[in-house]
Amino acid sequence: MTEHDQPAAAIRFVLNGETVEHAVRPDTTVLDLVRLQAGLKGTKEGCAEGDCGACTVLLRRGDGPRLAANACIMTAAQIDGAELTTIEGLGDAGNPTALQAAMAENGSSQCGFCTPGIVMALTGLLDREDDPPEDAVHDALAGNLCRCTGYRPIVEAAARAAAIDRPVRPKPDLPDRSNTVEFGGSVLHQPATLEEMLSLRAEHPDAVILAGGTDLGVARADYEGDWDRILSTAHVEEMRAVCVDADHFTFGAAATWEEVLSAVADDYPSLATLIRRFGSTQIRSMGTIGGNIGTASPIGDGPPALIALGASITLASRVGGARTLPLEDFFLDYRKTALRPDEVIVSVDVPRAAPDCAFRVYKLSKRYDQDISTVCGAFWLRLDGRAIADCRLAYGGMAAIPKRATTSENRLRGAGLSPETMQAAAEVLKEDFTPLSDWRGSAGYRMTTAAALLARLERDLSGETVEVMAL
Ligand code: FES
Ligand code: FES
Repeated sequence: MTEHDQPAAAIRFVLNGETVEHAVRPDTTVLDLVRLQAGLKGTKEGCAEGDCGACTVLLRRGDGPRLAANACIMTAAQIDGAELTTIEGLGDAGNPTALQAAMAENGSSQCGFCTPGIVMALTGLLDREDDPPEDAVHDALAGNLCRCTGYRPIVEAAARAAAIDRPVRPKPDLPDRSNTVEFGGSVLHQPATLEEMLSLRAEHPDAVILAGGTDLGVARADYEGDWDRILSTAHVEEMRAVCVDADHFTFGAAATWEEVLSAVADDYPSLATLIRRFGSTQIRSMGTIGGNIGTASPIGDGPPALIALGASITLASRVGGARTLPLEDFFLDYRKTALRPDEVIVSVDVPRAAPDCAFRVYKLSKRYDQDISTVCGAFWLRLDGRAIADCRLAYGGMAAIPKRATTSENRLRGAGLSPETMQAAAEVLKEDFTPLSDWRGSAGYRMTTAAALLARLERDLSGETVEVMAL
């Protein structure tokens, strides 16, 4: 073992411009780290599950921009070797940033609890875009709840700040990332190659595989269970890659949803709309495509869309090598997958759009942005004029796993695209699904809306504007 391989006993990162070290367990939440260890109380805790944005901080890894992220569900394991900015790292009352000044002058804050998070989310946007359109401002704020000011003065403050020339912020040098950090009985491994990752996985099949942490981090925020060994996917080159060729997108499992969104937006606008709805900018900058699949939630929104698109998934282990299977075969039962204990998800392959194919995905949830689906329907069709040559229909929220409606598909193949055909396909949905009732929706609601989504698909593909009264 070389000196470089000795585990570090602290997380080292740049905090508000200064390189710092904090001896904390790597599974400590960043919110606890900044508030309790670093004594920076400007970052607030609201929901502690990634929904309200009160805890928003900015994270920069490598040469990229600073991205808004939720400190409540991010762990110290994710900031070693990175730059973290909290509200204390912006301006202060005597020397506010242009945005802070605009927020104050525009009456954009009342109780103020949400305000630091809102300022951080908008600062992230203004870092990336000189003059963002209003849509981008709303998108940047979709993960930040404000319940007493109202959003209009906040959006106006963002526009005022965007109109002012802002100084270019120098990017501080980042400290080297440690291969291994060990403190308090928790060990973090940060492999840089797939080979290293597979060796570590073979040695530690019980370790927590940490990708974006947007799902696992919720349990950490609730102090549920310790992570005594963590394998981070965040720096594995092969798992970070996004490749696009004429026929396929290949997303490394650690590609973030923000990266997936930018890649697919032109080919699949409907998928882009879905991605914007199931994660705020904070979630999309951390959450990964592999993590969303690996957690195997029956109501995860990525899998139904990816199954309908005909995605495949590549898994690998040190002993068994790589294997690729259709994504739909990855899900076996409730939260059970085909992933073996020594395997990791390496990549996800998604066919590109073709001129004779149509794709739509519709999500029904109790609120439009950042909510868990009640039902998600994803539909891919190959059309020969008005005839359906082939199709894949996949649903989330209708079974213990995301699943294809194969009986309905058989009704559609070879038939013409019409309201009657969709009605026939809808009538046999009950042969593929027996949904459960829960507080999000009854079994009856789920069956009725799943069928209605097929009618909506037909109208949508026929060019009719679909009035969406209930989302
Ligand atoms: Fe609500 Fe973190 S405290 S998102
Ligand atoms: Fe009170 Fe936003 S200022 S919740």
